[in-house]
Amino acid sequence: MASGFNPNSPFAGKKKSLDLNGNGSSGISSQGAERLVSAGRLDGDEDAVELKLRPKRLAEFIGQSKAKEQLAIALAAAKARGEALDHVLLFGPPGLGKTTLATIIANELDVAYQQTSGPALQIQGDLTAILTNLREKQVLFLDEIHRLQPVLEEKLYTALEDYQMDIIIGQGPSARTHTLEIRPFTFVAATTRPGLLSSPLRSRFGILLRLEFYTDDELRFIVERSAEVLGVPIDSDGAAEIAVRSRGTPRIANRLLRRVRDYAEIRSDGKIDRATAMAALDMLEVDSHGFDELDRRLLRTIIEKYDGGPVGLNTLAAALAEEQDALEEVYEPFLIQIGFLDRTPRGRVATRLAYEHLGLEMPRKNTLFG
Ligand SMILES: Nc1ncnc2c1ncn2[C@@H]1O[C@H](COP(=O)(O)OP(=O)(O)OP(=O)(O)O)[C@@H](O)[C@H]1O
Ligand SMILES: [Mg+2]
Repeated sequence: MASGFNPNSPFAGKKKSLDLNGNGSSGISSQGAERLVSAGRLDGDEDAVELKLRPKRLAEFIGQSKAKEQLAIALAAAKARGEALDHVLLFGPPGLGKTTLATIIANELDVAYQQTSGPALQIQGDLTAILTNLREKQVLFLDEIHRLQPVLEEKLYTALEDYQMDIIIGQGPSARTHTLEIRPFTFVAATTRPGLLSSPLRSRFGILLRLEFYTDDELRFIVERSAEVLGVPIDSDGAAEIAVRSRGTPRIANRLLRRVRDYAEIRSDGKIDRATAMAALDMLEVDSHGFDELDRRLLRTIIEKYDGGPVGLNTLAAALAEEQDALEEVYEPFLIQIGFLDRTPRGRVATRLAYEHLGLEMPRKNTLFG
């Protein structure tokens, strides 16, 4: 039954070779240059540091008060009843803590944790093997669930609903269907693209948690905590300066902290205060909103080539020589969140704030949108 099943491959959730991750670490820049302020995971030794900085308990997880409260109640109730927690769907832009929360759920429930991802699951045998080997009440985390193949998605339905799975043994007239029992478990799935999930799949989740961009204060807290873990001396002004340039995203905050630490160690006494943070971030060309050259190019293109918009996503992607997915998943959410970009039915529109930030004059016709 498990022929051809490679126990290593489906668990490769964090492997960088999985270039289909759609979180911005691939296809983010046609020039191949990696963005410092990309919310996606970058190549390099970043995974190890991310692991180290990852909060392990819900109490250490900063921000996301709505999601945290909802989760805390569900966790307490499941524990009190001695049942597996309902299935959880985590969604939101890259780098906001979806994987972190999945591991926290397992820690809080004190159960085993296993991780795989949509692109890593290629054949039905892999999924069958994983599901039938689950331990009672454990957490199975499936990252990038929007990239799961439709046939496998359908197989999941009964597993999630009745803890059963039908498999077909044999071929042709002698083929028989077997129903396999699966131990009750908690399925935790993450996606940056909830809109791509089918409604039958979505309806299988009892707990839906949307992660939002973090406030500057929350990010300052995260920077301070990370600095402590890494043993980096930083004052609260220095942490605040890194926070405001982190695009509401802990992953970026942690990355900028490490670059600023390098700068502080080489150019000054190693301590991070506001002046050091500003000098380092200016040198890295991360501006006061955490924009880099690519964000500015995106806004400039809409404004200068398309009169401020509206311009369709595919046209914009072609003009920028970027992939549509990367634009939609990685660049746009933050620009929309801070009010620099509008998504209208007719396309993308640059707002007054975008003109102001770039020091450009807004033509009268667009004041309707501003
Ligand atoms: N609430 C938080 N408090 C402290 N640190 C956090 C928090 N959320 C995320 N982080 C940090 O940000 C890093 C990235 O988070 P995580 O990998 O969980 O993001 P993600 O949403 O899974 O991203 P992706 O969509 O790319 O998979 C973590 O390693 C962790 O250090
Ligand atoms: Mg993740």
